[in-house]
Amino acid sequence: MDVAEDLAGQLDFGPKFEQGLRLMLDAIGEAQNEAAPPLAPQQMALDLRDLAKLRGRPPFYPYLGAGVGRGARAMLADGRWVLDFALGIGVHLFGHGNLDLIETAIRAAASDIAMQGNLIFNREYFLLMQTLMRYAPRGMDRCWLALSGADANENALKIVRQKRGGRPGVIAFTGCFHGRTSAMAEITDRPDYRLGQPSTFPVHRVPFFNRHEPDSAATTLATVRDVIRRDGDGVCAFIAELVQGEAGFITAPREFFVPIFEECRRAGIPVWVDEIQTFARTGELFATDLLELADYVDIITVGKALQGSAVMHREGFAPDPGLVSGTFSGATVAMAVGRRIIEKLAGEGYLGPAGRIRQLERMTRAHLEELSRKHPGAISEINGVGAMLSFRIGNGSLKATRAFIEKCFRAGLVLYYGGHEPACIRLFLPAGDLTDAELAEAFEILDRCLRGA
Ligand SMILES: Cc1ncc(COP(=O)(O)O)c(C=O)c1O
Repeated sequence: MDVAEDLAGQLDFGPKFEQGLRLMLDAIGEAQNEAAPPLAPQQMALDLRDLAKLRGRPPFYPYLGAGVGRGARAMLADGRWVLDFALGIGVHLFGHGNLDLIETAIRAAASDIAMQGNLIFNREYFLLMQTLMRYAPRGMDRCWLALSGADANENALKIVRQKRGGRPGVIAFTGCFHGRTSAMAEITDRPDYRLGQPSTFPVHRVPFFNRHEPDSAATTLATVRDVIRRDGDGVCAFIAELVQGEAGFITAPREFFVPIFEECRRAGIPVWVDEIQTFARTGELFATDLLELADYVDIITVGKALQGSAVMHREGFAPDPGLVSGTFSGATVAMAVGRRIIEKLAGEGYLGPAGRIRQLERMTRAHLEELSRKHPGAISEINGVGAMLSFRIGNGSLKATRAFIEKCFRAGLVLYYGGHEPACIRLFLPAGDLTDAELAEAFEILDRCLRGA
């Protein structure tokens, strides 16, 4: 679909609007180079202190964005510029201030409502669903929009439970993360994220792939078989991240998943793939397609880079109408921008083995390897795929990893971590806009920070 056809899906406000919009976009483009910071440094520090009081805890780093950015760079409220490789934990795949996305957002913001729902909706609701489903893995017939990843996962859980006659249990991987609602916190493999919460249903944990253990795949398969033998009849689904996120960006090969999913199929247990983190970031829109697993998957959830979330499933999983709904289906701007992101990824050379995302992966790996040669012992465990890559700093102690991230932040590079003990640094590449020079600059900062480490 070309841009003209794309814009045909949006409301035509006439020539006055188009003229104003052009002026506005010019002004925004200029401001990206010349905007004055909204706050003095002391005021930003005071605001962050007051914010910490309101939240009941300080922010992870002293980041308060000005609202101005260009590509991988964002301006902080006090005027400092940073390179953002955290992206709100993987949300801003096109970085900051992308004028195409801002134009889409302005057009959507000019429509009559800020929020859309499941009873009354405008065309953005339909167009987003239609675009998402156009590129969805084979076999996905239906979708339902929601706001957060955890919302989509809650809907998925209800759908698989209904399909399985109310069976409550779930099989999940060790190290998994599926969100922070009550049910998702129970499935997520982080007891410290559910302190004081009751356990209300069985969660059977099977080990995720470990590339250092030759028997890893066989051990997991044997554990899955054992769980199915013991409690397969009490289980509603097997839930899987195909690339683990919160645990560090940990990949597994297709051959790891296929026998597990086949085993589930034989036992009548639906396979649910959580692509909330992987959506749009592995070099394909769906990791399910990257690993060619579509034939095994019954239900998929997406979020983050979509700017909202959705559950998609096979026709046979259609829920009873009363099961899944809610007031909101998304913000109008987020829906339009989410759809534009899909169109840009699919139409502008980002996907596939030769696409920009995999190209950036290869360049980032080369930078990491060079850095590891320069600083022997400082960098190890390079992992991940596409725009999600990770590595360990030193022995991976959480304290040292966080201290290194703080140091990089002060030097102008925003990073985030994953895993626990050992922890890793996760690089969320703003692959939609990242230039080769900006990537090199990020690695110069890493190099400087390692030298002083
Ligand atoms: C794999 C996965 N599932 C679910 C979630 C939850 O998404 P949200 O934070 O939007 O609720 C996340 C968030 O990090 C995630 O990575």
